[in-house]
Amino acid sequence: MKKVIIIDGGPRKNFNTASMLQKFADGVASVSSDIEVKTIRLYGIDYKGCMSCMACKVKGKASNICKFKDALTPILEDIANADGLVLGSPIYFGDVTGQMRTFLERLTFPWLSYNDYSITAPKKMPVVLVETMNGTPERNNSQGYGSMEYCIKAAHGEPERLIAYNTYQVKNYERFELAGFSEENKRQYREEHWEEDLQKAYEAGKRMAERLASLSKYGG
Ligand SMILES: Cc1cc2nc3c(=O)[nH]c(=O)nc-3n(C[C@H](O)[C@H](O)[C@H](O)COP(=O)(O)O)c2cc1C
Repeated sequence: MKKVIIIDGGPRKNFNTASMLQKFADGVASVSSDIEVKTIRLYGIDYKGCMSCMACKVKGKASNICKFKDALTPILEDIANADGLVLGSPIYFGDVTGQMRTFLERLTFPWLSYNDYSITAPKKMPVVLVETMNGTPERNNSQGYGSMEYCIKAAHGEPERLIAYNTYQVKNYERFELAGFSEENKRQYREEHWEEDLQKAYEAGKRMAERLASLSKYGG
């Protein structure tokens, strides 16, 4: 059975990022019930970033899976054997959330060889990167997954990117000190784009599932 792992790097369980990731999962499920989809909420687990223990680089025992033991260990092992990976994060101060960055340190540092600077994941798989943000396509400060994107691309090939711009940060703008945003403009943008963004996530899930289903069919 093929397995897709979705990593939700946002704190809110039912807001923008979680909704995009749920649609991706729905897209996978629409193609095949033989593909397992596992969603991990980073804010629900207790873990550290790279500890610089260098256990992954010990001579004769080097590993491209992080050896530090905490709640992330089984998840990193699961990802190493998965068939597809989806990472989702809101944009905070121009970057992915701290939780996502911390997770990515543990995921990617073991991929990097300090012998020859090659970057190798335990298993190559399609990767989708999801971002949601206040910014618009014309005006945003997002660096996306930043330098981690380079590692992901080197290890897994070019990731697919899904971006939901100008999201609702709260359900009711009147309740909050958010006068810098025009609720009217937000509403209009949302009416024009949000369903389309969700649909793109759904289609991306379908595409990944179709790719994995065809690999299964031909024994891949
Ligand atoms: C602490 C914090 C920092 C943020 N920084 C940015 C930012 O730099 N750029 C941006 O476009 N949106 C920023 N936002 C808005 C969120 O990225 C946006 O509302 C996102 O869709 C929230 O995702 P969620 O609904 O899944 O929580 C920030 C929100 C918070 C809470």
